[in-house]
Amino acid sequence: MKLSSLLSQIGYFAALSCASVVESESVEQATQSPAASAYWFENVKRTGGTTFRNVKEYGAKGDGVTDDTAAIQKAIAGRGGGGGFFSTTRNLVYFPAGTYVVSSGLKASSWSVFQGDPINRPVIKASAGFSGTVLLRGSVGASSGLADFFRTVKDLVFDTTAVPSSKSLAIILWSLSQGSQIQNVLFKMAPGAGATGHIGIQSVGANSPTFLNDLEFQGGHIGMSISDTQYQFKTMVFKGCTIGIKVNQMLVGTGQNLHFDGVGTGVDSTATGTAHFNLIDSTAKNTKVVFSGAGSAVNTVALQNVKVDATTVRIGGASSLTGSVAAGQTWLKGGKYAAGAAGKSVSPGELIPTPRGANLVDSTGAFVTVVPPTYKEFTVDQVINVKESGARGDGTSDDTAAIQAAVTAAAAKGSLLFFPFGTYIISDTIKVPKNSRLVGEAWTQLRATGAKFGSIGSPRPMIKIGEPGDVGLAQMSTFILDIKSSCPGLKLLEINMAGTKPGDVGFYDIHFPLNQGGVIAKSAGCTSAGNCPSVHVSVHMTPTSSVYWENTWVSDAGGSQSKTANGGGFLVESQGGTWINGLGSEHSAMYQIAIHKAKGVYLGVMQSESAYWQVQTKAAVFNPGSWASALLPGEPNFSWCATGDGSCRVGLYQYVTDSTDVHLYSGGFWNFPCASPTCQTHATVYANNTKLFVWGQGVINSVNMIAEQRGGAVTAAVPRTANVGSNFNGLTPSVLAAYLRQSA
Ligand SMILES: *[C@@H]1O[C@H](CO)[C@@H](O)[C@H](O)[C@H]1NC(C)=O
Ligand SMILES: *[C@@H]1O[C@H](CO)[C@@H](O)[C@H](O)[C@H]1NC(C)=O
Repeated sequence: MKLSSLLSQIGYFAALSCASVVESESVEQATQSPAASAYWFENVKRTGGTTFRNVKEYGAKGDGVTDDTAAIQKAIAGRGGGGGFFSTTRNLVYFPAGTYVVSSGLKASSWSVFQGDPINRPVIKASAGFSGTVLLRGSVGASSGLADFFRTVKDLVFDTTAVPSSKSLAIILWSLSQGSQIQNVLFKMAPGAGATGHIGIQSVGANSPTFLNDLEFQGGHIGMSISDTQYQFKTMVFKGCTIGIKVNQMLVGTGQNLHFDGVGTGVDSTATGTAHFNLIDSTAKNTKVVFSGAGSAVNTVALQNVKVDATTVRIGGASSLTGSVAAGQTWLKGGKYAAGAAGKSVSPGELIPTPRGANLVDSTGAFVTVVPPTYKEFTVDQVINVKESGARGDGTSDDTAAIQAAVTAAAAKGSLLFFPFGTYIISDTIKVPKNSRLVGEAWTQLRATGAKFGSIGSPRPMIKIGEPGDVGLAQMSTFILDIKSSCPGLKLLEINMAGTKPGDVGFYDIHFPLNQGGVIAKSAGCTSAGNCPSVHVSVHMTPTSSVYWENTWVSDAGGSQSKTANGGGFLVESQGGTWINGLGSEHSAMYQIAIHKAKGVYLGVMQSESAYWQVQTKAAVFNPGSWASALLPGEPNFSWCATGDGSCRVGLYQYVTDSTDVHLYSGGFWNFPCASPTCQTHATVYANNTKLFVWGQGVINSVNMIAEQRGGAVTAAVPRTANVGSNFNGLTPSVLAAYLRQSA
């Protein structure tokens, strides 16, 4: 019997029985391990899964002396599925509190999670004689991670202070794309030495991730050395690094709530592979230069609410700005489309008033940020395991009734509802009431199927958060929501609730990678995606909702092989303030995000690609196609396109209508399979908005970056040809620093 299956059978009571059966050396760990921490996640009863691996049960001591390299690698090895888009197995490598000495590099498997005890974050410490140049290789490949997804590192401390500061050493190599996240991690590094030294996080090649958050970097040559297509960096402290963030390649990026203390250069964006960077709600003290840019016409920057002491913004080697940028102001360098003006002008570096609505900001005027919940304040007896209510999570049993019973019971008691990793089949709406906290592990899968979700005219949610007007708490963490069969009448997630404070209604690490791995059988009549609708919309936030999001990815397999179409990605009608951090939304047929009659929306970064089948094959069925008779409020009807104009009817990345107080940062919009810069007519359409601010948009292969709609017609507002940027990975993007024409 394999150790893993033995452990899973023994489950929660692993301690003593595990020790007596497995190996005698486990006795000591067993008495330390589950008893050592009060963290519920370490001690919760797990039934029938082999996903969770406590490194101490693989022989790691965590005593600060023993070399634990081999034991930790043993816990990692050989698990996590085949990688790529889809896997049915996962590997959650858990570190109890302790100091784990490693003498050479660790290597992640695909679909793996490295998690520590957040009550007392474990330390992974490189020995003085550490060999190699990477401590944890988080990505499976060494270079491009464009097809490497779903990896997490959280609640840990990495310490390389014992390693000579002159040694080139990356703590985490992170060449990864969507679904990846490093969160609540402290990097303690030896101080930088000249041109080399330690790097906290390094990515190389081309990758398409969206989010890193709640990190601290102490010492080191570079905090993060980044080579990615887009990114949002949220809540980070850099102390004593030579360079905080070195941007080697990035089309658009947002740094939010960054704090530089005693740093040489905060953000070094001087490499030619960078286009636009937004630095917002940040501070710098005792720091030479807060932002350094390249200075060419195609390298642009926006700073908002950046408080500094004597620190300077430097563009192209020259000092461009000294002093702070107040809350309510933007310092902009780059191309802009100003309120009340037709056409483009170029800001050489100027201040622009930028009001933010009261429901989006904290008392300092910064956009609200929330620390993602670990629920470390809960004890294990306050946790309900959904399998105890009869849910199977086996990918075939219908778990609808069992999950609903558990959700209702957990809310009544105020308990955490834990879903051990598995695939839970759901055939009707699960109603999630106030006082709900649903937690998965290594992306527990909730999978919709069945006739209840089949009616295209009356879409029905799989997971319904609250009823219209509800105010309370509802949170989900670490799930994949997807489908087992075509469900043209399905909304995967509908949110009606608002919180009493931001984050009370919160979704953390929730993903919608639909149709991956051939999950949906192609039916005989499916000749092109246009006539095979599958999901109406992944996420619908109704007018009474107010929602906080971190790190989410909506995706249809989308390739030319895909014979199904999802209608929309995110549909936002929230009027109570909504924050979307680290969004990837791609391959839906009609739109990747639609924002309609919303009040107060913050979007930190958004990555999108068009549906491949639309631009590659110019499908015979055009938008809005099958959805024409079933459009929800705010969904585009494409009435501005000629019948049969396949380029005009490609799905929009953003469709923003009749909304106010909307702040869209760092849009990275990619049309890969199209070989021409003109195979999609409109990237985005904006209509009839007020206080709409767009900061940083990079678009590949669209005629118009932004078009404006009036009634049934649209006109081009921001054409590609006026905003052509420089070579980016062999592609020629158009890049815009600011769109302010609907900001009045
Ligand atoms: C613009 O939005 C306002 C406010 O939502 C609405 O009253 C008006 O009808 C809209 N106008 C058009 C032309 O859509
Ligand atoms: C399409 O939607 C626009 C509003 O966005 C509306 O003015 C127009 O009448 C609609 N056209 C059709 C054919 O429904």
